[in-house]
Order: sequence, then C-alpha cells, then structure tokens
Amino acid sequence: MMSSSDLRQGIKNETFPSPDRVKVLSKGTGPKELYVKKIRNGTVIDHIFAGHALDVLKILGIDGREGHIVSVAMNVISKKQNKKDIVKVENRELKPGEVDKIALISPSATISIIRDYEVAEKTRVKLPDSIRGIVRCSNPACVSNAEPVEPKFSVERQDPLRLRCYYCVRIMEKIDVLKQF
Ligand code: CTP
Repeated sequence: MMSSSDLRQGIKNETFPSPDRVKVLSKGTGPKELYVKKIRNGTVIDHIFAGHALDVLKILGIDGREGHIVSVAMNVISKKQNKKDIVKVENRELKPGEVDKIALISPSATISIIRDYEVAEKTRVKLPDSIRGIVRCSNPACVSNAEPVEPKFSVERQDPLRLRCYYCVRIMEKIDVLKQF
C-alpha cells in the first residue's frame, strides 16, 4: 500500500491532489499550465489535431460505458502547434490497430504510457508510406470490396490526409476515413 508521500514522489513539480488546471514548473524557463490532472496508470494521447479528440475516443471504442476514467481537453494552447486536443484514459493501454488509426487522423499525436505517475514510454504515432487493412476503399466498385483482398493505400499526403487506393486509384481524404471509425 502506497502512502501519500510515495505518491507525491511520483509527481514531478505538482501539488497533490492536483486541481484540473494548475500551474506547474516547466522543464524550460516559465511556468506552464496543466489542463487535465496527471494520471497514475494508463495512456495519454497528446498533440491530437484540435477538434479530433472525439474521433480518438471513437477509435478506442470509448463511449463512457466501459467504466474507464477518461479525461478530454479540447482546443488547448500547445507549444508545438497552435491548438491541440488531449485524451487521457486510465488503466488502459492501446492496441497496435488503434495506434495506426490515430496516426491516420492525427499524425502529430504522441502516446505516453503512464505507470505509477511516470511516463514509462512515449512514442509519436507514425504514418507509413503505405497502409494495409486499416480502412476500406470508399469506392463500392473497387475490387478490394468484392474480393477477399486486403485493402491497400499509398499515403500521398499526411496533412491534410490523402490516400490513394492501390487497386482502383480512388483518392480518400480524412472525411472518408472518419466515416469508417
Ligand atoms: N502525463 C499524465 N500523467 C502523468 C505523467 C504525464 O497525464 N503521470 C501526461 C502529460 O500531461 C503530457 C503527457 O503525459 O500530456 C506526456 O508527459 P511529459 O512527457 O511529462 O510531458 P511534456 O514534456 O509536456 O510532453 P511534450 O513535450 O510531448 O508536450
């Protein structure tokens, strides 16, 4: 059983329990704001393109009834991009297929695995030059929708997203991809 002082040790530069929006010391010079309190165990998806937090929840199949504690911040100021969204899911890690889908809608996202308040792993999602099996071609006449072949696309552009079907050359954009999640 951990004491409250043990818990405090795991939280860098933060008061405990932390309110939703506290000032903490940044690694740089000035203070920075924390919009959502730190979590003990789970996954933080940060630097999501502003306005896409709900799409990320949809990809993760989270509608609030699974019982996970989920925190969402939208349109918060970011040092790396003008605005960003953040999703924190407690006691849940992501599956590879979920990470690939997040990369499609937000190639800037970072995924941090939190264990006992510490960032145990942090990766930036990566959209490869070609993707297979994550989404279907939106052309109903495409052979990949008729035959048992794995859908395959070349990634022509990440932002805004532009995929080209390997079989019928149909172009798919983010809006076409989002309809499938
Ligand atoms: N985080 C959290 N709970 C923790 C530790 C970290 O929710 N116990 C979150 C942070 O708020 C941040 C992300 O996990 O959204 C990554 O943490 P960290 O690398 O410490 O933050 P930054 O250095 O600000 O990350 P970046 O440079 O990627 O913005």
